[in-house]
Amino acid sequence: MSLDPQKFRSILSHYPTGVCVITAMTARGEAIGMTVGTFTSVSLDPLLIGFFPDRKSTSWSEIAAAGRFCVNILANDQEWLCRKFATRERDKFAEVVHRLSENGQPILDGAVAWIDCSLYAVHEAGDHYLVLGQVEAMALASERVASPLIFFQGKFGQVASIETPLA
Ligand SMILES: Cc1cc2nc3c(=O)[nH]c(=O)nc-3n(C[C@H](O)[C@H](O)[C@H](O)COP(=O)(O)O)c2cc1C
Repeated sequence: MSLDPQKFRSILSHYPTGVCVITAMTARGEAIGMTVGTFTSVSLDPLLIGFFPDRKSTSWSEIAAAGRFCVNILANDQEWLCRKFATRERDKFAEVVHRLSENGQPILDGAVAWIDCSLYAVHEAGDHYLVLGQVEAMALASERVASPLIFFQGKFGQVASIETPLA
């Protein structure tokens, strides 16, 4: 059996993810951020979330230094934000409307929800890190159910139906 990394990427691309932008404020007062598809909920006690930044990510090292960050769950009309925060552009916040949370982290306008976190733990995980954040504050942007952006097989999409409950 071949265990080639490209085949691994291709097979794993059959698993859809949501898309988030992890934002933070540096000590210099500069807003920074990076797109991730690896966000997940982890623990209820304490409230923990996780995601996996690449070891080569320049944004991640600055977010780690800040020790706090905000997870912004992108809505289906925010593909442009996903693309913008997936670049190595210096000022990714140019033309991005945002406000600051009570903890001082950037909240992107129009995101489905935001989750403000303090850095809980960082574990080495091959060429990535496993980052755990402890939830300090969180909110849905709106009472109406907003449809999230979905990433699947290298393409953007949205949820077709959320009509069927689990039980
Ligand atoms: C849909 C999507 C999901 C991504 N998920 C991740 C991820 O989970 N972890 C990661 O390190 N990079 C991920 N990236 C790539 C980063 O967004 C990109 O490499 C990063 O922003 C590079 O900028 P930086 O050097 O400023 O960190 C993703 C990109 C896209 C388009």
